Amino acid sequence: MPTNNLYKSVLLDHFHHPRNKGDLEDADIVRRGNNPRCGDEVEVGLFVHGNFIDKVKFRGRGCSICIASASMMTEAVSGRSADEARHLCDSMQNWLGQSTGQVVGEAPEVLEALSAVREYPARRRCVLLSWEALADAINDM
Ligand code: FES
Repeated sequence: MPTNNLYKSVLLDHFHHPRNKGDLEDADIVRRGNNPRCGDEVEVGLFVHGNFIDKVKFRGRGCSICIASASMMTEAVSGRSADEARHLCDSMQNWLGQSTGQVVGEAPEVLEALSAVREYPARRRCVLLSWEALADAINDM
């Protein structure tokens, strides 16, 4: 299967079976991201232990890319320190702004599939919605 098709099937799998989507009532920190252009909205909840993010969950509604990105983000960030997660947020912003290059630094493989979105700059915001909410939440740790 060509790489781009593989990436698209990974994105679709995360959209249809989002990981860590659900209730945030027990989360320590919850922050919301929204896209005024389409009205989509995602809330990200951190379950923290000291300076570490034990788990990240999310809820909300969004397009397929938005939900897939949020799902991947929860997998990529859970278990990381606040500094590592912050670095990953910054790297995602930079990486999506470039048209070529490998996935960001030491980012987990799960994020590779987001490469498929880089050829559609208009969808950048869809990817970053949950990451921006995450960055806000990390700032409160
Ligand atoms: Fe709304 Fe993608 S179209 S976040």
